[in-house]
Amino acid sequence: MTRKLERLEKIMSRLGYGARRDVPFWIREGWLTVNGEKPKSASVKVFADEVELDGKPLDHPFGLTVIYHKPLGTVCSRKEEGRIIFEDFPERWIDRKPPLSSVGRLDKDTSGLLIVTDDGQLNHYLTSPKHNISKTYAVTLDSPLTGNEAEVFASGTLMLEADDKPCLPAELMVTGENTANLVLHEGRYHQVRRMFAALGNHVVALERTHMGKLSLTSLNLQVGEYQTIEVEALKQRIG
Ligand code: URA
Repeated sequence: MTRKLERLEKIMSRLGYGARRDVPFWIREGWLTVNGEKPKSASVKVFADEVELDGKPLDHPFGLTVIYHKPLGTVCSRKEEGRIIFEDFPERWIDRKPPLSSVGRLDKDTSGLLIVTDDGQLNHYLTSPKHNISKTYAVTLDSPLTGNEAEVFASGTLMLEADDKPCLPAELMVTGENTANLVLHEGRYHQVRRMFAALGNHVVALERTHMGKLSLTSLNLQVGEYQTIEVEALKQRIG
């Protein structure tokens, strides 16, 4: 979001620090400052990056984007059952407005590279077909590859059950008897699992390793760890 004047009470609430009604108390106690001065009231209009709480600047006052190494067994949305990814982030972030959401989803049994942001425009940029940001998955299969998968996936004719359009051409690089890397140029529900299921195989492990040029290994993030990043820097790294 762009830097703009906002009421102090609104800033504290939208960044997840607490309720608007708490702000007068924080001012009285001297915990809140604006440009080093005690603010006159909770409704004073200020820039969020001029505010300090307990002598510390506010956390990402104008937008938050993170690169995250999603663990297995966690879910991206509250509509799904299971431990939600937001539990790996500071508790305050859950109350931020606009809310954080993942860029696309990884299913519960998929680990790897996930972007989480409160920036709707960035989310749209990263998922829009116009920008064709590829996603690469390391796949482990139940049965050995038969040899025709790369051709079928590249053909642009593979129909998945319940879909009305064939999958866009995708590139498969075989890395072992039961393992391969698959590069997709779209994001459908459980797409990798369904693509292999359409060929009679079963995915037993799935990890997203890249989004565009950005690779998980270049980030040095342990499972469950994240790093914050500026929007333009992220776009550059994804390419
Ligand atoms: N394809 C899947 O099957 N699952 C994911 O999480 C991502 C792509």
